[in-house]
Amino acid sequence: MSIPADQIRSFRNALGAFATGVTVVTTRSEESGDVGLTANSFNSVSLDPPMVLWSLAKTSKALSTFMTSSHFAVHVLASDQEALSTRFARAGTDKFADLPIDRGVGAIPLLTHCSARFQCRTAFRYEGGDHMIFVGQVEAFDHWERPPLVFHAGRYASAVRVIKTPEAPSDAEPDSSFSQDFLIYLLGRAHHQLFLQLRNSLRRYGLSEDGWFVLSLLGVANNRTLDELGRLLAYTGKGITYDLLASLGAAGFVKLAGFYDPHARVELTDAGRRVVIELVAAARAAEDHAQRNLDDAQTHVLKHALRQIINDSQAVSPVAVPSLEGELDE
Ligand SMILES: Cc1cc2nc3c(=O)[nH]c(=O)nc-3n(C[C@H](O)[C@H](O)[C@H](O)COP(=O)(O)O)c2cc1C
Repeated sequence: MSIPADQIRSFRNALGAFATGVTVVTTRSEESGDVGLTANSFNSVSLDPPMVLWSLAKTSKALSTFMTSSHFAVHVLASDQEALSTRFARAGTDKFADLPIDRGVGAIPLLTHCSARFQCRTAFRYEGGDHMIFVGQVEAFDHWERPPLVFHAGRYASAVRVIKTPEAPSDAEPDSSFSQDFLIYLLGRAHHQLFLQLRNSLRRYGLSEDGWFVLSLLGVANNRTLDELGRLLAYTGKGITYDLLASLGAAGFVKLAGFYDPHARVELTDAGRRVVIELVAAARAAEDHAQRNLDDAQTHVLKHALRQIINDSQAVSPVAVPSLEGELDE
């Protein structure tokens, strides 16, 4: 029985609901040399003996090589190997050009920097409709602590651990409050709680939050004009004022070259630089503390979502705010 033509897309979509990892399967023969392709049909079969399987479209250019070769290697791709997946999913190109390659059993090509690698002897081949199913007995394997690349609903994704909903904070408002689930409330609260730890360090130097922003901007690139600093601070809704600059100058943290006008340059003094180094260390410690229960993938997704919000809200903001590009690093 075949699926009616008008249901093929919906069958594909239903299959796409099953999230998988992404692998590249490779082998070689004297005639074809190294061959390989991206495959997400990989699965484990047996622990004893150790066996895995994957399936290959009968239309694949690599079919005859896989049908005759005694061994193949399955590479489980890491989250930063999307480009490798795209490369091996493109037929008719030299997929191995300029790639660092190791050699495995039967001289099969082994790719590097993946999450796991299985070198297999081809144990069985089965007909599977328009695919051939290959079952391999694992003869050697490697595993590295790298987060995996995920494929779901036709797109690449990252694996993020399921987070247990944390207990509501002890000072939570009664259930009737709708603000507890507001993004703006959560972002604001997270900011204030994180900044609380930094505020003690600021107090020690008699610095306001605005003063710290100015010093940190000069810490990234010293000797900026007042105009530049004003534009970089515009997103806070405050900008730079004479009083703010005067207080930083009086504390010996900055020096103003010339008069207070938009083109005058502000320079961090040695004392100012020392304060920036100490406060950046305190900020890093607060950041580490905030991330202690998040894994790399969660942090990556959170930062990505926050950047998206920053860029989107920039478009509708009443003040001209500077782009995030180039101002922050990871
Ligand atoms: C995420 C992903 C998963 C894939 N999984 C398979 C698979 O399991 N089996 C298969 O035959 N093709 C699969 N493909 C398609 C092949 O990688 C693609 O058709 C490739 O061009 C085949 O190359 P070849 O004709 O040079 O062998 C997949 C492609 C992608 C992007």
